[in-house]
Amino acid sequence: MPHIVFERKELITTPSQKDGVDFEFIAKSYNFTQKTRKTEYRIALKNQGKEFLLSLKPKDENFMIKADKVTRLSPVTLVKNALNAYVSLNNANVLFSNTHNLKLKDESKSEYLKDINYFVDEFNTEKEIQIEIGFGSGRHLLHQAKVNPNIQFVGLEIHYPSIEQLLKQLELQNITNVLVVNYDARLFMEFIESNKVGKIFVHFPVPWDKKPHRRIYSNEFVNEALRVLKISGTLELRTDSRKYFDFCTEVLTNLPKGRITIDINKDLAVSSKYEDRWKKQGKNIYDVVLEAFNEDANINLDFDFSFDFEVNFENILKDIPTKSIIEKNFFIHVEELYVIEDIKNSGLIKLTMGNFDRPVTKYLYVNEGKISYYQGNPLPTSANIDAHKKLKEILSK
Ligand SMILES: C[S@@+](CC[C@H](N)C(=O)[O-])C[C@H]1O[C@@H](n2cnc3c(N)ncnc32)[C@H](O)[C@@H]1O
Repeated sequence: MPHIVFERKELITTPSQKDGVDFEFIAKSYNFTQKTRKTEYRIALKNQGKEFLLSLKPKDENFMIKADKVTRLSPVTLVKNALNAYVSLNNANVLFSNTHNLKLKDESKSEYLKDINYFVDEFNTEKEIQIEIGFGSGRHLLHQAKVNPNIQFVGLEIHYPSIEQLLKQLELQNITNVLVVNYDARLFMEFIESNKVGKIFVHFPVPWDKKPHRRIYSNEFVNEALRVLKISGTLELRTDSRKYFDFCTEVLTNLPKGRITIDINKDLAVSSKYEDRWKKQGKNIYDVVLEAFNEDANINLDFDFSFDFEVNFENILKDIPTKSIIEKNFFIHVEELYVIEDIKNSGLIKLTMGNFDRPVTKYLYVNEGKISYYQGNPLPTSANIDAHKKLKEILSK
């Protein structure tokens, strides 16, 4: 992680500019949780059109400056330039720096690896979509993509080495109809239009017998799957775990939608690594297929995350809740407040919010009373939308 340690001195004044970096404002921590913490700063800047924060904090007698974790972005050269520009503008006496000799990792990305925002803002296809959840070694997904060139596949995985392996195979085998996303499958479907998906494969998911809340299948997941599936589209579970099979069958039979088909030891055209292992051990393999019957209403991803009122930042410092707000499907936890002393009625609110399994940490930027999300809005998930509504309620009091 690039950082610079330098002798402590007065901070730079803002706004100011150095080597193409625009330093916009500095916000000072308010230490609102009352812990005896040392004062830290967040320095807001724009470099090559991208805005992010640097974190400046005391280190022994000196200062250490680095990228703020929440707003950090790539490529890392943007951060390195900003750190170098800060100490140069500050005429600081540098004691340690690793910003000149960092060996950069290859940051070039495959065109098939997509960020989740792509699915929120851009993904649009006339083709039928099929989704594989937790593709692992990718054998099944690669096979499906090869034999169905007119289908647009989306592969979901949270294990990065598996993603890299699949991307390599897509290139080697010249397969162009798979998009890959590193995102939790339990939440992904929220960004897919209704009635667009032909099949969803869930092959050998982790059974999570001791942590059932981490399972892919739940009422919410199956309802979302049914919404994105077109009529006759299928949600296909294949598992070696009898417990997981029983659990999923129960979830599916309790939802009075769709038709369920069950099979044992059915052969597929391709056998995954896990399947080979279980077959060798003589284990049963269970299939549970849910077929969708209904056409569903479309969803709205254009949720308006604005704040249509102004606030008094002094009041926020006094009144904002220090304890987490926990509701059925979302939470909000205010982590820290920062005051921008040079601009009246301004500051930053650092908070974590949204879904319990996939929370998002964001800064709210209060600029002369007007509020917005720094670095753009959260993803329009139902949990984030509900958390935003609650935030509006809290901040408008
Ligand atoms: C047991 S492996 C099975 C892999 C592959 N389907 C097969 O049959 O060989 C389960 C895979 O699901 C992935 N996974 C687990 N939870 C996930 C989630 N919430 N979203 C996406 N992938 C997940 C894991 O990283 C792992 O690669």
